[in-house]
Amino acid sequence: MSEEKSVGSREKEFYYPSEEILANANVKAYEELYKKSITDREGFWADQADELHWFKKWNKVLDAAKAPFYKWFVGGKLNIVDNAIDRHLKTWRRNKLALIWEGEPGDVRTYSYHALNREVSKFANILKSMGVQKGDIVTIYMPQIPELAIAMLACAKIGAAHSVVYGGFSVEALAERIEDADSRVLVTADGGWRRGKITDLKTIANEAMKRSPTIEVCITVKRTGQQVYMENDRDFWYHDLMSLPVANQKCETEVMDAEDMLFILYTSGTTGRPKGLLHTHGGYAVYTATTHKMVFDIKEEDRWWCAADPGWITGHSYIVYAPLINGATVMMYEGAPNHPYPNRWWSMIEKYGVTILYTSPTAIRGLMRFGEAWPNRHDLSSLRLLGSVGEPINPEAWKWYHRVIGKDKCPIMDTWWQTETGGFMITPLPITPLKPGSATKPFFGNEIAVVDDKGVDVKTGEEGKLVIKSPWPGMARTIYKNPDRYVETYWKDYQQQGWYKAGDSARIDEDGYVWIIGRIDDVIKVSGYRLGTAEIESALVSHKDVSEAAAIALPHDLKGNAIHAYVILRTGITGSKELKETLKNHVSHEMGPIGKPESITFTDSLPKTRSGKIMRRVLKARALGQDEGDLSTLEQ
Ligand code: PRX
Repeated sequence: MSEEKSVGSREKEFYYPSEEILANANVKAYEELYKKSITDREGFWADQADELHWFKKWNKVLDAAKAPFYKWFVGGKLNIVDNAIDRHLKTWRRNKLALIWEGEPGDVRTYSYHALNREVSKFANILKSMGVQKGDIVTIYMPQIPELAIAMLACAKIGAAHSVVYGGFSVEALAERIEDADSRVLVTADGGWRRGKITDLKTIANEAMKRSPTIEVCITVKRTGQQVYMENDRDFWYHDLMSLPVANQKCETEVMDAEDMLFILYTSGTTGRPKGLLHTHGGYAVYTATTHKMVFDIKEEDRWWCAADPGWITGHSYIVYAPLINGATVMMYEGAPNHPYPNRWWSMIEKYGVTILYTSPTAIRGLMRFGEAWPNRHDLSSLRLLGSVGEPINPEAWKWYHRVIGKDKCPIMDTWWQTETGGFMITPLPITPLKPGSATKPFFGNEIAVVDDKGVDVKTGEEGKLVIKSPWPGMARTIYKNPDRYVETYWKDYQQQGWYKAGDSARIDEDGYVWIIGRIDDVIKVSGYRLGTAEIESALVSHKDVSEAAAIALPHDLKGNAIHAYVILRTGITGSKELKETLKNHVSHEMGPIGKPESITFTDSLPKTRSGKIMRRVLKARALGQDEGDLSTLEQ
């Protein structure tokens, strides 16, 4: 079957929700509410915001006076933690499980909302005693353990912002982020468990602190018990601090302005330095809670498992904040999906009675590889809904997920969104007829389009650039310390129209279903992780033998994309198999293992424009044996 044909036929293939799903869904009809949410966007969002607890109600839902620096719920006072924890304590939810956590070695910890509040309040008091104040940014570098969520919530509770750096990142990446955020306090752990091995977080943190001198206090959670270097007067053990009288379990939740900073989260862009996207207490709380409740149909009795890492936006929004605001029971797991055996996830779904699983296409493809026998050994009947995020899901993986894991009865919510958007932007609802591989339609309040460079809608079914035409409460407010880059990156291309450029290409079919194709900028998605080609290239050229480098993404069965690098060596250096390995390991050391190139080609030249920009699309076309397209700007 040709690609053309297979695309055409999958566009006609619908999967319909069962009567039971339709009868019980939180949202019963899409079209009508969608129309209403567009004609009265502010009214729609005000209704959603009313579901939260505000210390003081807003005067204005949306302030577009300084667009694209939009403000939401202007004048409103709240705290996201008051909504995620405090208000539940006044109800029976006080004794409901907020968190079920399983460590990779099999240890289990559970927290009721009462217990979570106790731990968060105690740690909040510790942070205060360390001089952390409203507006400060605390950097968190941790494995996936409850203390990661506790640290995030403790920061937010006292009005400090957090900057979580994914535990797989290297010294360089951590140091750069600490410095950009001017963090005085770092929270880390002595290590975490991954595939039976210890990840050396504290050692990396120690190195990073040497490079970024802003850190005065480093708090370390003892997770593995391995020996780590602790410096006098700078390093403190979490458990020591938590047993001090100052770690009182009563702590006032700070009253925040809706527009006050909640966190920054760094993500890769087209130029070298990662950008710190800034999210706020008000709009982010409203947007994440609403999308979570409506898309995943959250019910009081649900056990929600978002199998992402809290170090990414998916974890911020849908492991920590939204599910707690919605009073759900959150499942969290520390380690690898196939450790010690490929049934690890399936056994946990059975063991804890998980009702909703939200994960990535890469994880699904990875588990699919081990065959059906592993999930079939477990009772997965507790599952009601499934979800996917991070990259386009290929129909084969979608169907396997639907049939083998969901037993043909669990709709799959393929949610398209970004670090920048805070929450789901294009997504089905449980009632939506699904097409495998399509994120379906925009969420309420969002107007989207697929356009050409001038902003004209491309024809139905044709590929174009995805834009978001209207503001939404969960949108990032800026890039930390770099508002110009925020405008330049997202708003400049369609400045006249005032549209947000997503950086993805997409198609909209004749039923109005959106098909995301992938990034069109110099961002690569590897196993759902977002990497900038510029970051990989600068890691390569930081090696003494490398003169120039170019990184591209090539299709990969498991990872979606894999990094392929072209390298020009310095004069006098000869390429060899060993040098390729050395360079791969060098990138892994500089960026963390997710940046490691799959393959390296040594070359004498790279195709460049006359202005000296590397034409990565030409490299990609050559590698794939495709037409190289317009070469008029190529330097001869
Ligand atoms: O290319 C899109 C892809 O992930 C990008 C955003 O990456 P990040 O900020 O790391 O956030 C990932 C988790 C929200 C997008 O520009 N992407 C995300 N979800 C999907 C997707 N591509 C296709 N389908 C999705 N459901």
